[in-house]
Amino acid sequence: MNAKEIERLIKISRERPLMPETYIPWQLEPEANDIFLPETLTSLEGLDVYHTLSPQQKTELGRHELVQVIASYGWGELLFCLFMTRHMLTLPPDSVEHQFLIREMIEELRHQEMFAQAITKLDGKPLPQSKLHRFFGHFSNKYLPADYLFMGSVSVELVTDVYGNYARKADNIYPVIKKMFDLHNIEEGRHILFTKSLLKEYSAKAGFVKRTLYSYVILFNILFIRTMYVKREIYQRIGLENPDEVYKAASKNFKQKFAERCLDDIIAFVHEWRGFNRLTRFAWRWVLGAKI
Ligand SMILES: [Fe+2]
Ligand SMILES: [Fe+2]
Repeated sequence: MNAKEIERLIKISRERPLMPETYIPWQLEPEANDIFLPETLTSLEGLDVYHTLSPQQKTELGRHELVQVIASYGWGELLFCLFMTRHMLTLPPDSVEHQFLIREMIEELRHQEMFAQAITKLDGKPLPQSKLHRFFGHFSNKYLPADYLFMGSVSVELVTDVYGNYARKADNIYPVIKKMFDLHNIEEGRHILFTKSLLKEYSAKAGFVKRTLYSYVILFNILFIRTMYVKREIYQRIGLENPDEVYKAASKNFKQKFAERCLDDIIAFVHEWRGFNRLTRFAWRWVLGAKI
């Protein structure tokens, strides 16, 4: 992507901003048969226990899990804004990269406000990240070089985009959630274009070792977000008697569903710069259940 194309993305962002305040019909309350998360993305669909749930328990499961997903996005984007702030200090302010990152950060901050508002609207009680997630989140954000952090960000954006597409296209999805994912899809589309082109330059120069490391950074980022959605406490909240047992089965179930439904775009991206090799392929299969 040359400077002209990046300037075009900056121009769209400046001239056609999507404001969550007006773009999302916040005044609408959920209707009786509205859902919050498509069944296929819930952690229990596909397991026997799912058939024992009442319609109300199923809706509640979707609501709690969606809140968890949104809260994880918000947290991840906030961490990424921390990195972008530091990174921008190293760039000349008149460079297109600097200007694009300013636009990206403005949009990410609006997303975080939108996510927080959506959680409130859903009467959500997001569960905090685990200690391990917090540690890796802060550590990698602070100490990994810029190219690795951009690799991580594009992998999270690609995976969450697929997730949002399932949600916004589902029948009966609560309109506030649909519009939230519509807005996110449009703006993240531009971020993905920009970051992918930036990474093309990095990966073109990368040898075997670096491509292996990039591949692992992406793998761990995906594992990182996948494990933030499924929470034992949610099964307690919807009144299941054996939350520990359900949690074990749900984690396994979700890993498989996530691999089948959410990894195609990111696998295509890693293929582009030959990120699958004898040191990475087995880990993708083993850790993420990826069909590669
Ligand atoms: Fe975002
Ligand atoms: Fe983004």
